Amino acid sequence: TSDKAKSIISSLKPVAKPTEPDFFGDWYATDDVPSQTNCPNNIRKRVPQTQFAEMFLHNIPVLQWAKHFTPEEYQRLRHYGGAHGWGGVSAEVLNSSLGILNTPANRLMFDDWENSANGSKCIRCAVVGNGGILNGSRKGKEIDEHDYVFRVNGAALKGMFFILFGLRSLTLSFSSSRFLHSRLLKTGARRIYRPSTGAVMLLAAIHTCDQVDAYGFMTPDYRLYSDHYYDKQQHPVHFYANHDMRMEMRLWQELHNAGLMNLFMSK
Ligand SMILES: *[C@@H]1O[C@H](CO)[C@@H](O)[C@H](O)[C@H]1NC(C)=O
Ligand SMILES: *[C@@H]1O[C@H](CO)[C@@H](O)[C@H](O)[C@H]1NC(C)=O
Ligand SMILES: *[C@@H]1O[C@H](CO)[C@@H](O)[C@H](O)[C@H]1NC(C)=O
Repeated sequence: TSDKAKSIISSLKPVAKPTEPDFFGDWYATDDVPSQTNCPNNIRKRVPQTQFAEMFLHNIPVLQWAKHFTPEEYQRLRHYGGAHGWGGVSAEVLNSSLGILNTPANRLMFDDWENSANGSKCIRCAVVGNGGILNGSRKGKEIDEHDYVFRVNGAALKGMFFILFGLRSLTLSFSSSRFLHSRLLKTGARRIYRPSTGAVMLLAAIHTCDQVDAYGFMTPDYRLYSDHYYDKQQHPVHFYANHDMRMEMRLWQELHNAGLMNLFMSK
């Protein structure tokens, strides 16, 4: 666990006594992906000057592909259930699913970049959450002008299954161990705790894009907005037991203030 996460944990009182040692561990596979651009001032180059220098792993694989399935990795990750690991999934199913993603191109989130870049030198990503702040914000055009747009409520998104499957375990445990080590992990709620899908997407984007703009993520003035931008009637933000949205909100503020992403904050 990084010092940062430790300080966050020690600043919060656990709600109940810890019953198990650290749930996820802090061990990850690595992928050495060469940079796809010559972007002069990208996130990776700025990280060392920020308080996130130690937490940020430059070679974390944000997507899983065939290379990551080994008998040793299966033995390790099968102890973690739910979205964090491979518990409850048979080795055969995993091997054949990840086996479909069997070329090194699958480690690249943006394997069409070379063809679609049009001379642009930096990969600019927009990550779009569900927040009510987006209602009437007129941000549509600005969002569409990014090279890649990640949408969180992406039921209709092509390839969403593979993205979520690929993000499973590696990025999710990475997100909670390093960036969102909630106090819930020290309580009985640790079995259901996970970062929100939006948080995992945003952290994945920060680890792969050159620039990230986040829209529709929770801001300190969340009480002014409805829970979701698509709500038919205004209703207050809902906090679920399996997420720690206040902690996520604090992290977005810190990443924004550190200059590692730009968070859309008021209409
Ligand atoms: C995974 O499947 C491939 C065939 O697609 C096979 O060659 C390989 O031995 C399998 N690996 C494991 C660990 O089961
Ligand atoms: C690149 O340029 C072509 C031709 O002008 C255009 O059709 C395409 O949409 C552009 N792609 C991007 C990502 O801007
Ligand atoms: C969305 O914005 C419109 C126009 O400002 C407003 O009438 C409506 O109540 C808003 N919806 C929600 C759920 O906040």
